[in-house]
Amino acid sequence: MTTVKALIEMATAQFQAAGIPSARWDAELLVAHGLHETRLALYARPDSGVNEKDETALKELVLRRARREPLQHLIGAWEFWGRSFKVNSDVLIPRPETEFLIESALAFRGLLKEQEAPTAVDIGTGSGCLAITLAKEIPEARIYASDLSSEALSMAEENAKMHGVSDRIRFLKGDLYEPIKQQGLAGRVNLLVSNPPYIPGAVLMELEPEVRDHEPRIALDGGLDGLLFYRRLLAEAQTVLAPEGMMILELGQGQTADVIPLAVRSGLTVHHILRDYAGIPRVLTLVSSAQAHRSNV
Ligand SMILES: C[S@@+](CC[C@H](N)C(=O)[O-])C[C@H]1O[C@@H](n2cnc3c(N)ncnc32)[C@H](O)[C@@H]1O
Repeated sequence: MTTVKALIEMATAQFQAAGIPSARWDAELLVAHGLHETRLALYARPDSGVNEKDETALKELVLRRARREPLQHLIGAWEFWGRSFKVNSDVLIPRPETEFLIESALAFRGLLKEQEAPTAVDIGTGSGCLAITLAKEIPEARIYASDLSSEALSMAEENAKMHGVSDRIRFLKGDLYEPIKQQGLAGRVNLLVSNPPYIPGAVLMELEPEVRDHEPRIALDGGLDGLLFYRRLLAEAQTVLAPEGMMILELGQGQTADVIPLAVRSGLTVHHILRDYAGIPRVLTLVSSAQAHRSNV
C-alpha cells in the first residue's frame, strides 16, 4: 500500500519535472485535499497507508497539476482574507496582493459607519472575494457588485450564499458603471473598489500556463497597454462617487506613474498608495472632491 509520504514525494517529483516552482508545497496541498485532511495533519502520519480508491483519484489530480492546471482549480476553492472562496475557470483566482485592497478599504470603516446608509461598489467582482469580504467586515454597508461575465456572477452569488451575505449584496450584470447607474447610484457611492483586468495585451502570452491557459481572458486583458480599464473607470469616477467618496484600485506592476495622472485629470485626489509584500505599489486610494463636477449625472 502506498504511504502518504510516498505519494507526496511522487507528486513533488512530477511537479518539479513539469517546471512548477512550488512543487513540494503544491504536492502537500493536493495530497491533503485528496485525502480530506489538512497539510499539518498529514505531517503527523507520513507513514500511514492510502487506500487504492484515494490513490487512483490522487494520481489523476497529480497528472492534471503536472499539465499545469492551477492547484486552486483542482482544489475548487482558495483562501482570501481568511475565508474560503469557490473558484473555477470562470473567475480569477483571488490573489494575496488583492488583500491590500481590503486593507486600504477597511481603513475607512469608521468614516463609512458615520454615513446613514453607506454604499460600496465592487466593479468586476469575479469570485466576489472583494464584495463579500466588505460585506462581512462592514456590516452597515449596502454593497453592489458588477461583472460583465454571467458565469463569474453565478460563482460570486454562490460564494455570497456560502458566506451568508446574499441579502447584503446586489449582483449586477453589465459593463463597468452601467448597471450601477441603472440602480440610481450615480453620485451616491461612498466606497468604490476595483481590481480591473490590467495585463497588457502583449504580455498575456508570456504568462505562466496556469494563468494563460486556465484563467478567464476577460479577467486579465487590460488592452494594448494594460491601462484600458483605468482610463474608463477614472474618466467617469466623479459621476458615480459621492462627494468625498473613496475609490480604491488595484494596480499592475509599474502602472502607478500612468494611472495617477489619469486620476488627477479626472479631478480625484491621491490619498494613499499601499505597497504589497514585494514592495510594489499595488493599491491606489483616491478621493473625490467635496463639490465634484457632475454635469453628466
Ligand atoms: C482582475 S478580475 C478581478 C476579480 C475579483 N474582483 C478579484 O479581485 O479577484 C477582473 C474582473 O472584471 C470583469 N470584467 C472585465 N471586463 C469588464 C467590464 N467591461 N465590465 C465589468 N466587469 C468586467 C472580469 O470578468 C473579471 O471578473
